[in-house]
Amino acid sequence: MVFDILTIFPDFFGSPLQEGIIRRALEDGKIQVGIHNIRDYALARHRMTDDRPIGGGEGMVMKPEPLAECLRAVIEGEQNRRVILLSPKGNRFTQQSAQRLATVPRLVFICGRYEGVDERFRDKYVDEELSIGDYVLTGGELAALVVMDAISRLLPGVLGCEDSAVNDSFSCGMLKHAQYTRPRIFEGTPVPEVLLSGDHAAIARYRFIETVKVTLERRPEMLLDVRFTPAELKLLKKEGLFGRIETVVKEYKAEPIHAG
Ligand code: ADE
Repeated sequence: MVFDILTIFPDFFGSPLQEGIIRRALEDGKIQVGIHNIRDYALARHRMTDDRPIGGGEGMVMKPEPLAECLRAVIEGEQNRRVILLSPKGNRFTQQSAQRLATVPRLVFICGRYEGVDERFRDKYVDEELSIGDYVLTGGELAALVVMDAISRLLPGVLGCEDSAVNDSFSCGMLKHAQYTRPRIFEGTPVPEVLLSGDHAAIARYRFIETVKVTLERRPEMLLDVRFTPAELKLLKKEGLFGRIETVVKEYKAEPIHAG
């Protein structure tokens, strides 16, 4: 997978790419990252990459020409790529988006700044606009790192153990169960007994129930889209959780639309 990042702050990406799993993925050639300074493509005397909004108003808008020049130089006729603008106005980036984008050979991230990018650049060159959440960052750089990280760990061979991504929170549509490690007793609290039993089927059942419980407590709406197997449904009934899930489904699906 090749990532290209178009930014006016290339130094921003120094240390985040030099740590942990991402560093190893780069060293192993599982990912390649090109950092491109938009300012290098600004021809104006002062190498300006932004200007005042036409029509007046606050802040500065990123100029279209340096962005377009930089992008053209980076993609050079490459067909199998997607150009992504990071902005608070974009569609919400989710685990599903990460899975979808992990299949694209080359992703080009445009890091917006100021009040946004000129709309004509967006219309002509951007394939999709993504936001990492309902808050406004000082620019798209942090968002690009978040998106790149979430995608990279899904690529074959990037995580040590292939199935660690399969069992992630969100991959199964629910939040992940709690985890424990040594010591067996921490400040008087032991790890749950079943985890020490060596009974793999019992551990799997326990973890499934914990997964459902934590999702019910923290993100119940996620359960609306989960399809349980008959064996899981039986277990949920036995543990008294089926009724709680039914209540959630009724509450969310029957939510009235309030006027004004
Ligand atoms: N740029 C500024 N805020 C952002 C956000 N929430 N997501 C993506 N890019 C952004």
